[in-house]
Amino acid sequence: MANGIRYFIGNWKMFGIPSSFKILDKINSYFQKDKKNNKKYKIIIAPPLTLLQDFSRRCKKKKILISAQNCYEKDNFGAHTGFVSPFMIKKIGINYVIIGHSENRASGETDKIIMEKISLAVKNNFTVIFCIGENKEERRKKKTLNVLKKQILNGLKKNKHDFKKIIIAYEPVWSIGTGKIPSPQELQNNAFNLKKFIKKKFKLKCNPKLLYGGSVDKNSIRSFKPIKELDGFLIGGASKSSKNFIDIIKNFYK
Ligand code: PGA
Repeated sequence: MANGIRYFIGNWKMFGIPSSFKILDKINSYFQKDKKNNKKYKIIIAPPLTLLQDFSRRCKKKKILISAQNCYEKDNFGAHTGFVSPFMIKKIGINYVIIGHSENRASGETDKIIMEKISLAVKNNFTVIFCIGENKEERRKKKTLNVLKKQILNGLKKNKHDFKKIIIAYEPVWSIGTGKIPSPQELQNNAFNLKKFIKKKFKLKCNPKLLYGGSVDKNSIRSFKPIKELDGFLIGGASKSSKNFIDIIKNFYK
């Protein structure tokens, strides 16, 4: 059961220029005013790499945390044109990183690469938002749980004992950007079984943190709200507008 802090994480993907900071300003104003609930949740925004340092500096006095959307699977410095290491991202004051997003898996990121990235991110003291999710075909064949378990085991091979720094984001691939969402029953079953599996497999004393992502918006949030297993949400499209993002939080606590 999720009885701790809830996470509302905005994944901007390839969106945003420096002036997009006004979106964060508006979200921050809402957060400051939301005295009734704002101790119950954390807001994290993952802008593109070009904005990370600027946003992280400007957020020092705000309550919004900044996350990277990815990192390279080799650390420190090296001859890797166009990439940045976990070490480099950490040095600009970022403490969160998304790893294993299905859009990156689709462009060639394997379980092994994901495992290397997670291992280096944890070594650099990041909290990792580790994305997993089944595709449409796997769901149709009722293989969802097997797929999720395999992705977890493969991704965390080197990090068996570090669950404090890992947040799992369950994002069914068929739901991302499509407006399609799992039924509350299906999501609750998957979330329950996943948490149970992780707790047992990694011999955890506390429940792992589990987010849901995939077409989360101000309407769909209502059907996710009763699912106690969820510790928060990874929000793509709806996080690029302050109004949409704030409406999600408002509707969640209504
Ligand atoms: P979506 O994306 O909210 O636009 O479906 C979620 C994600 O890709 O993290």
